[in-house]
Amino acid sequence: MTQVQVLSDKPALIAHALDLIVDKIQTTLQKQEKFTLALAGGGTPKPLYEALAQQSLPLEKIHIFWGDERYVPSDHPDSNEKMAREAWLNQVDLPPSNIHPMPTGSNDPSVDAQTHDQELKQFFGVQAGEFPVFDIILLGMGDDGHTASLFPQTEALTVSDRLVTVGNKDGQPRLTFTYPLINHARCVMFLVAGENKRPALAQIFSADGDQTLYPAKAVKPQGELLWLLDEAAGAELKS
Ligand code: 6PG
Repeated sequence: MTQVQVLSDKPALIAHALDLIVDKIQTTLQKQEKFTLALAGGGTPKPLYEALAQQSLPLEKIHIFWGDERYVPSDHPDSNEKMAREAWLNQVDLPPSNIHPMPTGSNDPSVDAQTHDQELKQFFGVQAGEFPVFDIILLGMGDDGHTASLFPQTEALTVSDRLVTVGNKDGQPRLTFTYPLINHARCVMFLVAGENKRPALAQIFSADGDQTLYPAKAVKPQGELLWLLDEAAGAELKS
């Protein structure tokens, strides 16, 4: 089920995403012991993480992952892990063992991708060929229609036999969830703000947009797909 919600501006988008996430955490944990949340990188979600730091949540039951990571050390200014730790995770009493960053320390992205693939399989208790089901995967979208580190016309778009692979942004390696992992999620929530995202959204929501050119178009989870947009990005998509 796909829903497009257009909020008046970015603060409203962040506030709405916060409400939805907190509600999902609370309702899900009435039925299961753990809540698995994969974070998006980039700039849009940072105020959401800062807002989550102010919430009273059952942190011992929440497990944090990342949908993609730049191939840099975790103390590098470009690190998605660093951004989320500073905005949220360092501000709260989340058990360190509940935080599952993508490793970037082996000097070989394909080795680290395989390591994280195994870490995820072990955590979720899935066998080879199976895909774990995340409760929420947060995603952003670049001006070019990329999401996570699934960039246009890159090999990562074709990977369907593993959970994590190596992405490529203009020759720079990244680690990224694969489409099958993303598409097994119970809920995928896109957070997209800004007029610069409009052209890619138009392609993604058009019948003939090419998903190899606009990779976010191929995100079709078995669960819920929520596009949370601000007016600047989504004015033309309002139903
Ligand atoms: C990353 C992200 C990437 C991001 C988009 C949007 O590592 O950069 O995972 O997919 O979500 O590029 O970034 P903004 O939110 O900064 O526009």
